[in-house]
Amino acid sequence: MSGEKKIYGLRGPLIVYPTFSLLMLLLFSVIAIISAVGTYKISIEGSKNLLETRAIDIAVNLGFTLEKLGFKKDLFPELTENEQWDDLAFLSLYSEDGTIVLHSNPHLIGRRQDDSWVRRVLRERKPKIHFSPLATGEMVFILDFPLRLHLKGGGQETHGTASKTLSRPYCLRVALHPYPAQAIVRRSNLQLVLIGLSLVILWSLSLFFFWTWKKKYRLEIRLREQERMAALGEMAAVLAHEIRNPLSSIKGFAQYHMEGETDPAKRQDMEIIVEEARRLEYLTSDLLAYARPTALHIQEFSLKKFCEDLARTLGPKHSDRITWDCDDYTVATDREKLMQISINLVQNALDALEGTVGGRVWYRLRAENSVITLEVRDNGPGIDEEIAERVCEPFVTTKTKGTGLGLAIVQRLVYALKGRLNIESTPGEGTLIRVDIPIEAGVPDPLEAHY
Ligand SMILES: Nc1ncnc2c1ncn2[C@@H]1O[C@H](COP(=O)(O)OP(=O)(O)O)[C@@H](O)[C@H]1O
Ligand SMILES: [Mg+2]
Repeated sequence: MSGEKKIYGLRGPLIVYPTFSLLMLLLFSVIAIISAVGTYKISIEGSKNLLETRAIDIAVNLGFTLEKLGFKKDLFPELTENEQWDDLAFLSLYSEDGTIVLHSNPHLIGRRQDDSWVRRVLRERKPKIHFSPLATGEMVFILDFPLRLHLKGGGQETHGTASKTLSRPYCLRVALHPYPAQAIVRRSNLQLVLIGLSLVILWSLSLFFFWTWKKKYRLEIRLREQERMAALGEMAAVLAHEIRNPLSSIKGFAQYHMEGETDPAKRQDMEIIVEEARRLEYLTSDLLAYARPTALHIQEFSLKKFCEDLARTLGPKHSDRITWDCDDYTVATDREKLMQISINLVQNALDALEGTVGGRVWYRLRAENSVITLEVRDNGPGIDEEIAERVCEPFVTTKTKGTGLGLAIVQRLVYALKGRLNIESTPGEGTLIRVDIPIEAGVPDPLEAHY
């Protein structure tokens, strides 16, 4: 059997609701930005259309007027004055060779201008729009409109004598002040800025609330955990006191009777009593270790010697299953706690290998860059996926006679030592548990370290 490698970290609780709210806010922001930009584009387009329609309207009107009245020198100044064309900047009419035939400023009539736009309009016979600066620096909207005029006298000012009708192409230029249209763009600019500002405020407030909520949430969890641990500590103390003493009497008497007993059946019963009493003793001391970890006791010791003591504690029964890899350094940390962590991890690995063929445990203890790294690896079946996420919670076990306190104790001790615990497991391939402990561990505060 083989499966995907999983890392069971010690992540905090999932923050579902605020994350959901932030996602909704993000969605809302995206929609608001898209619609604001859309409106902005439409208004820019709209303002351009407005100018274009207005300019074409004037151009068409002028076309008719010119056909009707012919070229009068003061026609454009009169029209500009009489018509309600407040937004008109100027009017001009160009002949084929670029000469200004009519202009709202009569002084310019007769001048020749080499204007590329006019040339293009006369050539292509299509209206063109563009923006161009005036002498004052103001940008004006310009429509260059092709006209074919049938004028008496070949397009020269009529003097009433010529009767020949000639049709010639002209370019009529209508220049408009863009401010009415610009007002629309300014309004949508303002709208865009307001939407942006509202989003910034909304986001700042949401992030602030999210941050405060997270802080409060963590504090609450920490308080709840403290209360839970205090209650558990009291219970463990009562247990230790009320159960341990009678338990050692029960065990002592059973051992005493077992020694003098010759009936094998009765002897077996006594053995069971002793065994179960011992199990209860372990449970009470495990409970105490979990609920009331003792204060740190930092001391210097050799890692090599530590490993030898650990091997002796585990007994010769499993010695051929364990591969040792220990540094020869002297370090300073809480030796007792490191021993408890090691025993629990190696014992779990050995338990996992029970009944397997060729099962091995690799114990590695190294000191590097002021960190003690302890690794316990096995090639057993891996952590049962059903309990994998909760494996460090107390009383979670898959063993018939397990307490489920081993990894919970390890976790508490690691935090007490200001260290880190990392569990990796691959179903069918094995488990690797790694503990990193700073060599000079600080003052113990397991809960502080926990959250
Ligand atoms: N090395 C390992 N390989 C497979 N499963 C493991 C290993 N270590 C721990 N476990 C699983 O985690 C559970 C909890 O372990 P622990 O807290 O030490 O309690 P216990 O050993 O009393 O069951 C075990 O019952 C076992 O299912
Ligand atoms: Mg265990």
